[in-house]
Amino acid sequence: MFDARPIGIFDSGVGGLTVLEALTQRFPHEGFIYLGDTARVPYGTKSARTVERYSVQVADCLLRRGVKGLVVACNTASALGLAALRAHCPVPVLGVIEPGCRAAIGVTAAREEPGRVGVIGTRSTVSSGAYPYHLAMLDPRIQVLSLACPLFVPLVEEGWVDHPAVRMIVEESLTPLFAQRLDALILGCTHYPVLKKVIAETMPGVALVDSSAAVADDLGRYLGGVIRTAPPGQTRRLEFLVTDVADRFKETARRFIAGVEAEWVEMVDL
Ligand code: DGL
Repeated sequence: MFDARPIGIFDSGVGGLTVLEALTQRFPHEGFIYLGDTARVPYGTKSARTVERYSVQVADCLLRRGVKGLVVACNTASALGLAALRAHCPVPVLGVIEPGCRAAIGVTAAREEPGRVGVIGTRSTVSSGAYPYHLAMLDPRIQVLSLACPLFVPLVEEGWVDHPAVRMIVEESLTPLFAQRLDALILGCTHYPVLKKVIAETMPGVALVDSSAAVADDLGRYLGGVIRTAPPGQTRRLEFLVTDVADRFKETARRFIAGVEAEWVEMVDL
């Protein structure tokens, strides 16, 4: 039995495209509908109540389009809205935090001493405590250092990646982590992989954990189980929805997310 319906995926803006890229490469026959809530980005400065409400509205929009599952490609929405989304949606809902934690534990597991993991994310993700909680569930000995990097999302949404100011902001923001002897640093915001090169150069010797591959592993476990796979040979269908300024989304996506072409972007009201 197959299910030709698409999988819904959302973020506050372009950041979740880093996850979509990994999913489309891993599951070439599945259809995806991506929604970027560009009218209300950033989520990472907002309260839990607001992020939860936005997330449920976005999910409803995707459910009306008949999605068979939902990927929350936003750490902030995963940290603050996942429980509400799971209670609300009649389809399976996957977040990005647990897969990211599993990937980080994969890096530290071989060590004899307790692993030291840094987590960078939005203010709301960091203050939710979701990462330290899930990391401790997987390895109670793990030491976690969390740091909010509130300037990174606006840089990516503005398409500032190669600009000299980016290196300065990244270095300044990550300074509190320099002396921490980290084994791994979780990019706990789906916008951050766009800045991966500068972050890697700023934190030499630290393994960067981008949860997109781990999210693809998770979706692989759901597909064929609680979510039925697309019929074999189905040609890939990608749809893009935004809540504001479609052209800007298209341009940023085209310049910075190599594996995803957002040719046609539809504006929606939530
Ligand atoms: N990319 C999102 C995240 O993973 C949201 C960033 C934001 O909207 O502040 O947290």
